[in-house]
Amino acid sequence: MITADKNIIMVIFGATGDLTHKKLMPALYSLLRRGLLPDDFKVVAVGRRDKTTESYLSEIYESIKKNIFGEIKTDIFDALSRRIQYHRQNFNEDQGYDGLKAVIDGIGADMNIMYYLAVAPQYFEVIIEKLDVHNMAANPKAWRRVVIEKPFGRDLKTAEYLNQKITSVFPESSIYRIDHYLGKEMLQNLNVLRFGNTVFEPIWNRRYIDNIQITAGETAGVATRGGYYEQAGALKDMVQNHLLQLLTLTAMEPPVSLNEGDIRNEKLKVLRALIDHLDIIETVRGQYGAGNAEGQPLTAYRDAERVSKDSNTETFVAIKLFLNTERWHDVPIYIRTGKALKSKITEVIIEFKEPHYDRMANRAEALKANLLVIKIQPEEGILFEFNTKQPGTIDDIVPVTMDFCQNCQTGVNSPEAYERLLHDVMRGDGTLFTRWEELKCAWVFTDRIKAQWEGEPVEFPNYEPGTWGPQAAEDLLSKDNRKWWNSQGE
Ligand code: BG6
Repeated sequence: MITADKNIIMVIFGATGDLTHKKLMPALYSLLRRGLLPDDFKVVAVGRRDKTTESYLSEIYESIKKNIFGEIKTDIFDALSRRIQYHRQNFNEDQGYDGLKAVIDGIGADMNIMYYLAVAPQYFEVIIEKLDVHNMAANPKAWRRVVIEKPFGRDLKTAEYLNQKITSVFPESSIYRIDHYLGKEMLQNLNVLRFGNTVFEPIWNRRYIDNIQITAGETAGVATRGGYYEQAGALKDMVQNHLLQLLTLTAMEPPVSLNEGDIRNEKLKVLRALIDHLDIIETVRGQYGAGNAEGQPLTAYRDAERVSKDSNTETFVAIKLFLNTERWHDVPIYIRTGKALKSKITEVIIEFKEPHYDRMANRAEALKANLLVIKIQPEEGILFEFNTKQPGTIDDIVPVTMDFCQNCQTGVNSPEAYERLLHDVMRGDGTLFTRWEELKCAWVFTDRIKAQWEGEPVEFPNYEPGTWGPQAAEDLLSKDNRKWWNSQGE
């Protein structure tokens, strides 16, 4: 593995927020435990609340304890603590930046800096602007990188505006737009599966594949995130970023090399082929009502905190789309995601064409088509379903599975997505981050669907928690004589 650069200060804006507590600090702890943090790595945790470094650290201790696998080790936490200092400031006041600059200069003015914007999106612009005004965005002797969480804009127009603001301060190569799905182990494994095995690539096309399905189901409702979710909905929250990333990695052509630029070009081609075919996209939207989820009563989405009583925000979306490429042009790709569904499961399913055997054997019933399931989470692995003769029968044929469970076999928990992504920023590798051109296409796609929905009436709520969404999502496939699959057989 290429090691991280040295002399790095990570400045976290939003240090008291959920993301820092649940993901960033646990990731830094794990990187340190695995010996992947450079010796001179320091953290300036910037928050608006008044606290001392000491009180901040005791809160961080609790969060790390809750959010890592296994027991927290005091010596590692102590070593991490020695690298962290808390700095209080408001994100839009100049004074605060003077103070922050003094803290940074105190550590070392010529250190490399990664600014992590773990803040609500309304602060992205002002923070970038202030970093520029206070001469904190560039230094000829060291690098400055900026890491931005989603949502990057609300639509193409706002994303373009934000991008223009950020690129007027930081070059594109220093901007790391996070999509945490790209940090998931099995997403990275997709390239290896496809291009590192001779058996898959020759059949990875319209000649052998009948359809592709991508499911990202969640069992929980929106919980306390109603305020954000009302503006986003499942389409912007999950499809615009995570599901399109899964789609591009599944469908892209083999890149010339695994370099950042080569992979990105191939992913971009998929997105271009997608937005070339927007006229034939079909969608289904849903919103959950009251019921039971995860064995507990769940109130309807419309009754969640900070959600309007007559909200038409979708908590479920299913889409049938096509890619206008030689490899895929008549292969339907079905994607679905939603809250309060039956299973927490993310999978890519490749359904192959029906075999010819039933005609050869003069069987009345068609054999089940082969399925290849790429299991992203909770289990990581690959499952292949194929037909065999039922032992002891004359000609009964049954589907059986070969199931490779990666996390069972390796016996270790995969590094959390944020560990990998933070380490990549430290070593300047942008492969697992979203570049502007990709994001732009993703917004064209999302805006188009949004526009299509605008004039359409909806009757929400239209699905019960603990199901796979509205009936119309089943119909989307059944009218094509297909059905949704998943490795849990539900
Ligand atoms: C986030 C969304 O980006 O991804 C959440 O904002 C969603 O709404 C989450 O719950 C899902 O991530 P994961 O890693 O749990 O599948």
